Amino acid sequence: MHMNIAIDGPAGAGKSTIAKAVARELGYIYVDTGAMYRAMALYMIQQNIGEENWEAQAFTAESADITIRFIDGTQHVILNGQDVSDVIRTSEVSHMASVTSANPAIREKLVALQQKLAASESVVMDGRDIGTVVLPEAQVKIYLTASSAERARRRYKEMEEKGTLGSETLASIEEGIIERDYRDSHREHSPLRQAEDAVYLDSSDLTIEEVIARILSIISEKGEAL
Ligand code: DC
Repeated sequence: MHMNIAIDGPAGAGKSTIAKAVARELGYIYVDTGAMYRAMALYMIQQNIGEENWEAQAFTAESADITIRFIDGTQHVILNGQDVSDVIRTSEVSHMASVTSANPAIREKLVALQQKLAASESVVMDGRDIGTVVLPEAQVKIYLTASSAERARRRYKEMEEKGTLGSETLASIEEGIIERDYRDSHREHSPLRQAEDAVYLDSSDLTIEEVIARILSIISEKGEAL
């Protein structure tokens, strides 16, 4: 059976770790839509396009060829032939992605790509507008969140382990998270919000394993009901 699972929520709620694990468990493809917005943002930075210049962004987006490739089950994001999967993870790109993802021309292009992927394969897709805009017919929708303090703590630990902290502190990371939350949920086009038929899950006091188990049981209940 073809099945699509939408996982939305704010930055740092653990969506990608959890969506990846759920996809692996089910044998579905995991699609990280944030990575697509990040690749587009990286392209805007490379082309020296200003944050406010929506027209130039729309024009420039036309020459951005963003594709997703799966290598050993892992998603790689290819921007104009180059694998940018790692370089899209900097704070600079995070910030630019949160700005440029408000641009409707950019959203239109990436939503079409996401819908095409989900039409041909069963996917677990994570993002901000998957349950509301990209896959409104998804059989299972999860809204995954956690407190900003907890999300900052997790991000800090992850960056510390990877050695990518640089000059960031726990406080600066939390500030960045709050700023992005605000922008993601207050933009005019496809703001971050819970779909009416999504299950709300707060992961602040849950382990990754507990969240994965919860989601798998929601999916199996849903699958039986279908
Ligand atoms: O999940 P992330 O941090 O990699 O997302 C990067 C940015 O892209 C974030 O500011 C929100 C935006 N985004 C979006 O607007 N819609 C999506 N479906 C996914 C991400």
